[in-house]
Amino acid sequence: MRILSGIQPSGKLHIGNYFGMMRPALRLQEQGEAYLFIADYHALTSVADAEAMRRGSRDVALDFLACGLDPERTAFYRQSDMPEVHELAWLLSNVTPLGLLERCHSYKDKLARGIAASHGLLAYPVLMAADILIVQANVVPVGRDQKQHVEVTRDIAIKFNHLFGEVFTIPEPQISEEVAVVPGLDGQKMSKSYGNTIEIFGDVKQTRKRIMSMVTDSKTLEEPKDPDACNIFRLYKLFATEEQQADLARRYRAGGMGYGAAKKELADMLEAYFAPMRARRAELEADPGYVEGVLKAGAARARELAAVTVQRARRAVGLE
Ligand code: ADP
Ligand code: TRP
Repeated sequence: MRILSGIQPSGKLHIGNYFGMMRPALRLQEQGEAYLFIADYHALTSVADAEAMRRGSRDVALDFLACGLDPERTAFYRQSDMPEVHELAWLLSNVTPLGLLERCHSYKDKLARGIAASHGLLAYPVLMAADILIVQANVVPVGRDQKQHVEVTRDIAIKFNHLFGEVFTIPEPQISEEVAVVPGLDGQKMSKSYGNTIEIFGDVKQTRKRIMSMVTDSKTLEEPKDPDACNIFRLYKLFATEEQQADLARRYRAGGMGYGAAKKELADMLEAYFAPMRARRAELEADPGYVEGVLKAGAARARELAAVTVQRARRAVGLE
């Protein structure tokens, strides 16, 4: 089974990103032949700052490698190191009805938020179809918001195959249901746009301070507390074993346990959990040549497949 997913560089990695997106992506390498790429061409639809673009792309590569991506098992590459996707995107464009793109929620949401309509924004799903079809992926794990784009990919591939013969594997979206939304410091969904994040590779002291500032109810130290209604406990669960969770829940219910103490335990747990990744990231950061080498080698592997697919598609439409 061939699995492919793309990730847009999206700023400083926080715990919500880690549990919601990164850990599931890293599990792909256990499920089959995995391809994972940094969707920098897609990011151009929202980033118009060359330095921010380079930084974002570099950070996401470091984050993934530090958090356990194994480049031997997963072909990890930058989308822009595979220019073949553009040739394929053009071939696909001509079988993509305009209405299909205009109906995409993500496009409509962006317009509704006041983002100017550009050709890139509209054609975004066609490029995404090219990313997927070029490696003949069977399965595409994505968040719920990207499911429609995978359905568009299927429509485009089916139409192309119908018109020109069987060139493309029809991919299936795989929506991860296991991850609930990770709450932020204030109890809302953790998101960089709400300013309530706990960063994974941020300054240790600063992170501790942020955890100590988490919002709770105003129960006194002595009062029994409900772990399930508490933000601190919800985050603690992400890091703790079953026994540790049961133990903290018991102390909450018994009374005599303050929120300050719970925050401290959470901070310790989090620090210990990410310490090896933090160390690995520092090592990688000091060795940019290694990271670049990984991405180039990943691109070379993916491009072998891409060359075959593009040639088949060119033949099918009569360019060869
Ligand atoms: P943000 O909301 O901070 O801007 P993004 O929208 O860039 O984060 O999300 C990047 C990835 O991380 C997406 O796959 C998204 O589903 C996941 N993600 C972000 N925040 C959370 C959260 N609080 N809980 C679970 N997953 C999340
Ligand atoms: N659009 C995806 C997102 O924003 C990223 C992406 C680009 C992607 N190409 C892809 C995901 C191909 C899966 C497959 O999250």
